Amino acid sequence: MPARPALLIPRKLSPAVLERARRDYDVILNEDDHVFSPDELVAACQGVDAVLPCHSERFDAATIAALPDRLRIIANHSVGVDHVDLAAAAARGITVTNTPDVLSDATAEIAILCMLGAARRGSEGDRMVREGRWNFWSPAFMVGRQVTGRRFGVLGMGRVGQVTAERARGFGMEVHYHNRTRLPDHLEKGAVFHDTVEGLLQVSDVLSLHCPATPQTTGIINARTIALLPERAILVNTARGALVDEAALIAALASGRLFAAGLDVFRDEPGGNAGLAALDNVFLLPHIGSATFETRDAMGFRALDNLDAFFADRTPVDRLV
Ligand code: DGY
Repeated sequence: MPARPALLIPRKLSPAVLERARRDYDVILNEDDHVFSPDELVAACQGVDAVLPCHSERFDAATIAALPDRLRIIANHSVGVDHVDLAAAAARGITVTNTPDVLSDATAEIAILCMLGAARRGSEGDRMVREGRWNFWSPAFMVGRQVTGRRFGVLGMGRVGQVTAERARGFGMEVHYHNRTRLPDHLEKGAVFHDTVEGLLQVSDVLSLHCPATPQTTGIINARTIALLPERAILVNTARGALVDEAALIAALASGRLFAAGLDVFRDEPGGNAGLAALDNVFLLPHIGSATFETRDAMGFRALDNLDAFFADRTPVDRLV
């Protein structure tokens, strides 16, 4: 085991995290914070024992195959790991960890912001005032949907889903959810469990997505499933863009079948979707669910805790493979 392992940090982490990393590791930092191309990523990984990437670094099967034998752990600074081919990592004996829990509050806040921004026409109003186009007021002006007392559907009742449900309860919303397994009473807290996605969708005035992107969940929100939602429902996505067929979503928003959508994640990132951006009834953010000062520190520290455990020959608490 190297006394001071060499650690590649491909993105600009918080100052406190970089300070701690430099204290305990020989850090190679991608100083200008650009996203590595696949070739650059492989080249940067040569000669290091560990890498601490974000969701912006793709470790697909080809990249993992090209990693040096010396690299033994990918300690992600993210809860989502759809950017890492876990089976390929396992096959090469590379440990993979993530950072659950520490970003649940921050991401739930963004989910609620997306819900309210969509329901109360936040983007439309902001742009109107900002661009000097606000020259009229009437009781019939900018009328949105009230969420109080409505049904809040959670698809994927993991840690972020549970915190978001708790926040939605604060708005007097009735929580419904679908999850692979039903939660025990103390976590369910009176939420109504649906054993199928379809059952959940039929009762979701607001549907909030909190499941990981996997081959099973990719495109789970599509023309067929959108048609199951109540008329003029609201879709919130703070999980992964891959969950949504964006063309189907655009069609449902343009026709008014859906009232609005609040989205923090997109199929193409960075950038988003020009078709969605052209619509008034969407509230859009650039994948900032976990972007608070507190949470950035907590994510980095959690990734470093996982590295510390690994290099001390203990099992990292967030070991996935
Ligand atoms: C996560 O942790 O998965 C967030 O999307 C930020 O990367």
